Amino acid sequence: MMTHIKIVEVGARDGLQNEKTPLSVDDKLTLIHDLMAANLKFIEAGSCVSPKWVPQMASSTEVYRQLPKDTDISFSLLTPNTQGIKDALEVGCQEVAVFTAASESFTKKNTNCTIDESFERILDIISLAQEHDVKVRGYVSCVVDCPYEGAIDPTKVASIARRLYDMGCYEISLGETIGTATPNQVRRLWQACRDELDISILAGHFHDTYGMAIANIYESLEQGIAIFDASVGGLGGCPYAKGASGNVATEDVHYLMTGLGLSTGIDIDKLVQASHAICQKLARPNGSKFTNAYLANCH
Ligand code: HMG
Ligand code: MG
Repeated sequence: MMTHIKIVEVGARDGLQNEKTPLSVDDKLTLIHDLMAANLKFIEAGSCVSPKWVPQMASSTEVYRQLPKDTDISFSLLTPNTQGIKDALEVGCQEVAVFTAASESFTKKNTNCTIDESFERILDIISLAQEHDVKVRGYVSCVVDCPYEGAIDPTKVASIARRLYDMGCYEISLGETIGTATPNQVRRLWQACRDELDISILAGHFHDTYGMAIANIYESLEQGIAIFDASVGGLGGCPYAKGASGNVATEDVHYLMTGLGLSTGIDIDKLVQASHAICQKLARPNGSKFTNAYLANCH
């Protein structure tokens, strides 16, 4: 029986990548230290992508360099190609994330290549990672809808996830990139994946554009998924999925899990502080329903 939920905190990467106001290395480190204080154990710390494509992530290796080394926390960096993993290795990164999509047009817009070409890049990344004993997590984007192509066939998503697994990804996160999905679609997605893979290695990565993320996570739990990506304060969005809002807020996922009797290990008071601090820094409204209620009622 499921008792614990693994949360992968993506606020420092997915959460910040779309923010126009440049944040300093110190500001990013403050955010990550606040997340560590909230007891998050899996933290995506940034991405080694082209600064021309995603300027906010340009300081990711500098951020990573200054993270504590002697810790039980797993800090990862998102890498699109050989240059990305080389940069990550140079700062001692122990885990990288690779990414592709179940849509050709999105892959082209996001990484300027076809899905097959993205797999060639991923193969290069994985072989370098394995040489250096670095773990590799995989992402598939547009698992329900694509902003350019519309509905995506769940069996296509399942076969791409399978391909990532066969290449050496230890965990694969399915990205509902534009936050349009409803639970019936999410159920069909996990059912298609179950035919290809052991679903215990799959994670749900839900954006919350239409306010469906918590409903989709609940459906995913019902289908046996026990790993979820989330972003403090609901920060985020993909620069190549116009109008898509942030990831589901980590605080809201924690509230759901606690209510269902599942543990996340999170210190919620500390997480609310982290959430409030980063949203103030970015001068943006807090995207977590939990945090807004907590701050209004309790403090
Ligand atoms: P390109 O322009 O086709 O590549 O971009 P290129 O090889 O021609 O290189 C162009 C320039 O970028 C060159 O510099 C390279 O050196 C440089 P120049 O010679 O012009 O000065 N470059 C790099 N610089 C730093 N780090 C690198 C790197 N690679 C090349 N690794 C590329 C191809 C893949 C680089 C580009 O398209 C890119 O960086 N894309 C990343 C886009 C991105 O970060 N998107 C958001 C993350 S994915 C996401 O959010 C979805 C997810 O959350 C799940 C979900 O929600 O669905 C994961
Ligand atoms: Mg995302």
